[in-house]
Amino acid sequence: MKAIGIVGSPRKNGNVDTLVQAVLDGAKEAGYQTKKYYLNEMKYQGCQACGYCKSHESCRLEDDVTNLLKDIAEADAVVFGSPIYFHRFTGQFDLMMDRMYSLIDTGFKSRLPPGKKAVIVTSQGNPDLPMFERAANEFAEILKFLGFEVTEIVRMASGGAPNAVLERKDLLEKARSAGRAL
Ligand SMILES: Cc1cc2nc3c(=O)[nH]c(=O)nc-3n(C[C@H](O)[C@H](O)[C@H](O)COP(=O)(O)O)c2cc1C
Repeated sequence: MKAIGIVGSPRKNGNVDTLVQAVLDGAKEAGYQTKKYYLNEMKYQGCQACGYCKSHESCRLEDDVTNLLKDIAEADAVVFGSPIYFHRFTGQFDLMMDRMYSLIDTGFKSRLPPGKKAVIVTSQGNPDLPMFERAANEFAEILKFLGFEVTEIVRMASGGAPNAVLERKDLLEKARSAGRAL
């Protein structure tokens, strides 16, 4: 069994990274092999709207997201993590998300095999947690459309400092147990 984590924050070891890692640690305990991608360290383009993926099986672009998309297709579970930037996920994350369009076939059905599980992780600076929950909720709908079962959304507020999460033992445990339950 394979679980991959995707970190959409540019802050390595920041709140999202730490929470994604906690989910992966839990998944490891449950017997998964794990791997983590840092989008900020990868070179890739956004979707070019060329339509190639609707007349062929995959995206025409060949870059670092090509391998990630292959890994998503093979993985049993995926942890998607991003901070909230201006009410939505980061640009790094959104560019990757648009490339997931190539996981949809000509008939607008998912190309992914069924049975995949997903956990979403977000962190925001604002202490008002519900204020920015729309981004994760909308992304959960996209994942459901792609055939994922979204088993948990781990949301953190007051995450202005990159290590604020270390004080949040409750959230770290929630993330780890989400991983264990995959
Ligand atoms: C460009 C930018 C935009 C941001 N926009 C928001 C926002 O709209 N709402 C919010 O609560 N926090 C916002 N933040 C704060 C981050 O969401 C917060 O610091 C988050 O915990 C960072 O996660 P990380 O530690 O994983 O990088 C913004 C930060 C940056 C750099």
